[in-house]
Amino acid sequence: MTVAEPSAPLRSIEVAALSPAEAASEHAALGAEIAGHDAAYYREDAPVVTDADYDALRRRYEAIEARFPGLKGEDSLSERVGAAPLEKFGKVPHKVPMLSLDNAFSESDVEEFVARVKRFLGLAAEEEVAFTSEPKIDGLSCSLRYVGGRFEVAATRGDGAEGEDVTANVRTIADIPERLHGHGVPDVIDVRGEIYMAKADFEALNARQAAAEEKVFANPRNAAAGSLRQLDPSITASRPLKFFAYAWGEATSLPAETQHGMVEAFARWGFTTNPLMVRVTTAADLLAHYRSIEVERATLPYDIDGVVYKVDRLDLQRRLGFVSRSPRWAIAHKFPAEQATTVLEAIDIQVGRTGALTPVAKLTPVTVGGVVVANATLHNEDEIARKDIRVGDTVVVQRAGDVIPQVVRVIAEKRPEGSKPYKFPHVCPVCKSHAVRDVDIKTGKVDVVRRCTGGLICPAQAVERIRHFVSRNAFDIEGLGDENVQLLFDAGLIHNPADIFTLHQHRDAVRKAFFLKREERARQREEQTGRVRKKVLSEEERNFLDIENMFIAIDNRRKISFGRFLFALGIRDVGEVTAKALAKAFITVDAFSAAVSAAVPGRPGEAWFRLLSIKKIGTISAEALADAISDRTRTIGSPETILRRVFEAAKLNSGQRTELRLEHKGDIEIIAFLNSAAANRPSPEFQTLANVPDVGPVAAASLCEFVAEDHNWLLFQKLLGQVQIVPEEAQTALMESPVAGKIIVFTGSLQKMSRNEAKAVAERLGAKVGSSVSRKTDLVVAGAEAGSKLDDARKIGVKVISEEEWLSMITE
Ligand code: IVH
Repeated sequence: MTVAEPSAPLRSIEVAALSPAEAASEHAALGAEIAGHDAAYYREDAPVVTDADYDALRRRYEAIEARFPGLKGEDSLSERVGAAPLEKFGKVPHKVPMLSLDNAFSESDVEEFVARVKRFLGLAAEEEVAFTSEPKIDGLSCSLRYVGGRFEVAATRGDGAEGEDVTANVRTIADIPERLHGHGVPDVIDVRGEIYMAKADFEALNARQAAAEEKVFANPRNAAAGSLRQLDPSITASRPLKFFAYAWGEATSLPAETQHGMVEAFARWGFTTNPLMVRVTTAADLLAHYRSIEVERATLPYDIDGVVYKVDRLDLQRRLGFVSRSPRWAIAHKFPAEQATTVLEAIDIQVGRTGALTPVAKLTPVTVGGVVVANATLHNEDEIARKDIRVGDTVVVQRAGDVIPQVVRVIAEKRPEGSKPYKFPHVCPVCKSHAVRDVDIKTGKVDVVRRCTGGLICPAQAVERIRHFVSRNAFDIEGLGDENVQLLFDAGLIHNPADIFTLHQHRDAVRKAFFLKREERARQREEQTGRVRKKVLSEEERNFLDIENMFIAIDNRRKISFGRFLFALGIRDVGEVTAKALAKAFITVDAFSAAVSAAVPGRPGEAWFRLLSIKKIGTISAEALADAISDRTRTIGSPETILRRVFEAAKLNSGQRTELRLEHKGDIEIIAFLNSAAANRPSPEFQTLANVPDVGPVAAASLCEFVAEDHNWLLFQKLLGQVQIVPEEAQTALMESPVAGKIIVFTGSLQKMSRNEAKAVAERLGAKVGSSVSRKTDLVVAGAEAGSKLDDARKIGVKVISEEEWLSMITE
């Protein structure tokens, strides 16, 4: 890197005396010079000017801009950070979602997978289905869009629906062709596969990083991810990334009719494909291949964490389709977790955003499967008691893929003398409020989780809530990582998520907080290493860059989809799926708010959930029981008689009666239980909310609890004033399907597909599949030898179609 000579002659003139032309020329020259120094500092780690000189350049540059604001063009340094353009990765929607894989951990899981595939396709056990089997590469998946055979866009997986645009970085990967050649290249195709770093390249990179006192990576996968997510493609270019093609997304045509044919086409077009892929037809052969790869694993030049099996024929893949986030036609057979033994030095209690106290084992660092592990999860207090884990114990630690390491068991022989069972704290370690175990409304049992009762007065909960709010699948505010959230919280600059959007009003205070933190960190580092830090950018300059970076990231997220917004609020039991479902069902914030507010007064109490938690009792039976027991005053008789009448009135079958009796011994107890459940039953408004698909009574109750708290409601309103919410993308495909929203009943035996497959297809097209015919049924599909359901349909006048008609309807 050559750095421009300082433009000395101009600099002798005071800024105030510069003519516009002189200012423009000096501004440009200074810009280039500073950029050169930045690059030398950040990329090459080889600064060429002193701290003071750099500062002087920067000050003059800004003074010129202050006097001639017109010079603040797009490539002004105030728009850049370090050597990299301050342009965060854009988002790329995946036309076909990028899914994950279901996992198999044992041989019987694999046999079950093969059997399941055959069952679904309606094949007999002895009929053959071909599968491909190939290594599961431990990297990160990437989707590469080719238009007219030319590489256009590359995106990471992201949340599966949309990823980050990493096009510029991917261009630097030698394995990824710029143009596809050979026959069969479609007009448009998303080629998908794994970006990874070879083991040897990873070792060499870490050695280089360590020598330069830069971050070293825990494993090749992290190194690959860190290298790909660089803002500066020239850094990615200097990191040796590789790519295997193994899948595809949207394509205007396909060059083959099988999985292995597709992979062969990828190879022909110029991609690297994995040479260890085979095609076999039985579960036994899949397992044999798995074992051979397991043996080869250590000598492979790249990390793998299992083997992936896929149904070979694409027509069968299409029929099999997907269940939630993974395809039915593929499975990942994972290698067993790796284990190591070490000493448990202490048990830390962390407090999460919902107040959950989570025990974390602090371990003497140990390498497990190539990664240094110093912390492991202990799950909860019952687990600690069950495994009798004590401080000072020698324990077995296990790590599987990217899962959090766990303490599996204690090695009893190595227990130090005099050790005592661990006592789980009953007060919150952060705010000292009581920590209690609730009755879990899902199971009616005492919750395994102990929670701090401090609510918003507990700083740990507030910090975790803000962290969740800015996290990847929520608001995704880069530059506001865990450390900065803590820093800003400690400095009293943010108390809740809404404060993030007004933070720019306290720029000076933010700068000061960052500055103090940086000073403290640098001092610590100097103490630890005995090395004096090199200063090129002044501390203030660096702060300035970090902070501006953060403000831009915040501004970039002032527009957000409704689903992400709801998820970001961190409401208990409202995960990503539920949040999206709510956003799709209500579309507007107003409709959502109205529905939740209406549900609040009539939300059910604990006793109602205890009734729902009884096996075989669903909402319908619970409602019927509540009606019946409320009517009981008309019956005079013994508890036995009353209960019998109630059961009859509620149309409870014998299985349901048995379950109720298992839970509560004695007729009087059951009556009392049903009485309290009935007194706690939800209103119709609550049921409407609970009936939204993917919501259910538990999440609905948590939503009500959330908005019933004034401070939450206030936060919700405040945020609405700060961000712009865009409706969740409507699922157009579903809307257009001829059976969307219809209730369909299948009866008789179908010839072309199994009952399960027919059900899956109908659901994919937005229909609901019922098990019996009623007036609500829209359509009955009658196969051969259809019986009573067909009669029912004819009686009530529900439309009946044949299997052939059904097939032509769904393939239109
Ligand atoms: S197939 C629709 N094949 O594993 C399924 N995935 O756990 C598409 N992976 O996100 C994936 N090696 O990143 C497939 N040979 C392979 C793979 C592989 C690694 C990753 C991929 C995926 C994850 C799922």
